[in-house]
Amino acid sequence: MTAPPPLRLAILISGRGSNMASIARACAAHTINAQVACVVADRADAAGLEAARALGIDAFAVVAADHASRAAFEAAVVARLDSCTPDLVILAGFMRILGDGFVAHYRGRMLNIHPSLLPKYKGLHTHRRALAAGDTVHGCSVHYVTEELDGGPVVLQGRLRIASGEDEQQLSARIQAMEHILYPRTIGWIAAGRLAWRDDGAWLDGQPLTAPITEDFDGPATD
Ligand code: GAR
Repeated sequence: MTAPPPLRLAILISGRGSNMASIARACAAHTINAQVACVVADRADAAGLEAARALGIDAFAVVAADHASRAAFEAAVVARLDSCTPDLVILAGFMRILGDGFVAHYRGRMLNIHPSLLPKYKGLHTHRRALAAGDTVHGCSVHYVTEELDGGPVVLQGRLRIASGEDEQQLSARIQAMEHILYPRTIGWIAAGRLAWRDDGAWLDGQPLTAPITEDFDGPATD
């Protein structure tokens, strides 16, 4: 039997692009049956654009300020993404709230990674908020994107214990290390036909996913 063609990914970034690079590496190593068709940033100075080009990936900036309205900007992003004919759109540190039309266009074909254990800490400054709340466990979530900000079905979560005295930067680095493992893994499940969007929800291995799959990165979590 011949292998199915690789899943085509279009990755949206705003910054460094370390998640983009981890996904591109997993593709290049054939750990997952996917290929990065293009990378699009909403800022011309996003460091991830150069990182993508260094990996041989087509990378483009679509800058909001160059467009008359948010709708026009989002239409330009859709046009750029669709010109890469993606099977899946990957939000990897894309720091913009997307309009309903954009989300509807990619419904069931768009994933995000968020640096918290959703539904906790939607939005920004998640590590700072977890530390300020005195949480002992923190993590990241890979989820399908729906109209509700950071609210779509969560597929996979990584959890770790917050170490005593750990600061925001240290915590962020440990969370990112988990992200670099869990995001390629989730994409690999889709590429392998294990994970799919069906009946307006996530299905894994032929069953509706009623709760996220969780992985503890440093022993069992306690809350
Ligand atoms: C990641 O840690 C991701 O979880 C976060 O931005 C970072 C991007 O890093 N995303 C969000 O906060 C989205 N709400 P990267 O550019 O190095 O991949």
